[in-house]
Amino acid sequence: MTTVRQVPRWADVAPFLVTRPWSRDPVVRRLARCVCVDDLAREARRRVPRAVMDYVETGAETERTMRRNRRAYDALELRPSTFATVGDPDTSTTILGRAAAAPIVLAPTGYTRLSHHSGECAVAASAQAHGLPYTLSTYATTSIPDVAAAAPDGRNWFQLYLMKDRDISLEHVAQARRSGYEALVLTVDTALSGAKWQDRRNGFSIPPALTLRTFADLARRPRWVGDILTTEPLRFATFPADSHYARWGMSNTLREQALRPADVTWLKEQWQGPVVVKGVLSVADAVAAVDAGADAVVLSNHGGRQLDRTPVPLDLLPHVVDAVGHRAEVMVDSGIRTGSDVAAAVALGASAVMVGRAYLYGLMVGGRRGVDTALGFLTDELAHTMALLGAPTVADLHPGHVALRGPGTGAAP
Ligand code: FNR
Ligand code: LAC
Repeated sequence: MTTVRQVPRWADVAPFLVTRPWSRDPVVRRLARCVCVDDLAREARRRVPRAVMDYVETGAETERTMRRNRRAYDALELRPSTFATVGDPDTSTTILGRAAAAPIVLAPTGYTRLSHHSGECAVAASAQAHGLPYTLSTYATTSIPDVAAAAPDGRNWFQLYLMKDRDISLEHVAQARRSGYEALVLTVDTALSGAKWQDRRNGFSIPPALTLRTFADLARRPRWVGDILTTEPLRFATFPADSHYARWGMSNTLREQALRPADVTWLKEQWQGPVVVKGVLSVADAVAAVDAGADAVVLSNHGGRQLDRTPVPLDLLPHVVDAVGHRAEVMVDSGIRTGSDVAAAVALGASAVMVGRAYLYGLMVGGRRGVDTALGFLTDELAHTMALLGAPTVADLHPGHVALRGPGTGAAP
């Protein structure tokens, strides 16, 4: 058969021509270039200084832990139930016994206003709008009541770094109660701050120190610098403004460095509400935390920012669910970037996942609207994955939907 050729004609092409709506608003244009969380990370790199991006993105030391986290999600396979395909799955679930729109919790991240001046308030308001719990960090740059005011109907959780001076921690607990917070998240993996080699290479520290090199880095992102300089100065805002904690709160010497299960019990007694223990990396420690009174544990290596060469939380998940799943919720974080990652973790028994960097990338690109975009990606992808897997509800996701494969995955505890 011979192919008949013709001269290209405009009239044949014209019907297929679409123009994308153009916006004057740079945030709208930036967000329109993104279809997933990884795209938000790419756009974020163009907007914030390199040292700030590295503070958020990089892991501790050789970053092996961080890479293994991702490798585990990359390597797993999803196994659809072909004859159970559904059209409109329901991503809603319960977390700590209360309704959530999806099995996703926003993880605590310190110094969030460095990513974007709107910081924690924007993130909490977005979480509220999406029906998801938000966790405010002890090292937040916005105070406990200010976040509650930004998300008065939100499910706000407070992440506690226990201080040696228990009066400071009791004040955090009291403020969280007064401001209507729902749960406390005790982080147990930070006896010392992680050794972030890339931050050292960049001369980056918290609180930030202006060296010639950091100055040159900042000079390339004048809009970000302008936003930071014309808004409330950065400080550790959960601590009293006139105390040295407001400037040096993150110092290792102020934090409790010898946490015991008895501290979980003590906190539970003080709080009289849900206590989540975050940073657990073994079956034995999960059992100890639950025995001590924890309502939930988060299997987490802090996104690879603390001890290098730890286990991958996803690998531990089935074993920890077996050991404590009947009497506590098991959550997981570190490396989650897509809704299919969320589906896999839930299928393996997680009651919810936490995400950190995923929402910070959105925040960097477009403040509140960027966080909305990130959370929209994750929940839409989760629904899409559930539909293709054949899981009409979150409860229908089961271990048979996932095969952990490849080196670095499926390891026994
Ligand atoms: C964190 N994380 C964290 N965790 C915590 O308990 N208290 C904190 O103050 C912080 N601070 C913090 C800052 C930044 C910039 C990041 C990226 C992370 C860890 C966080 O809660 C969570 O465990 C990880 O972010 C999960 O990994 P992904 O989702 O970032 O891959
Ligand atoms: C971090 C500390 C704040 O991961 O936990 O940067």
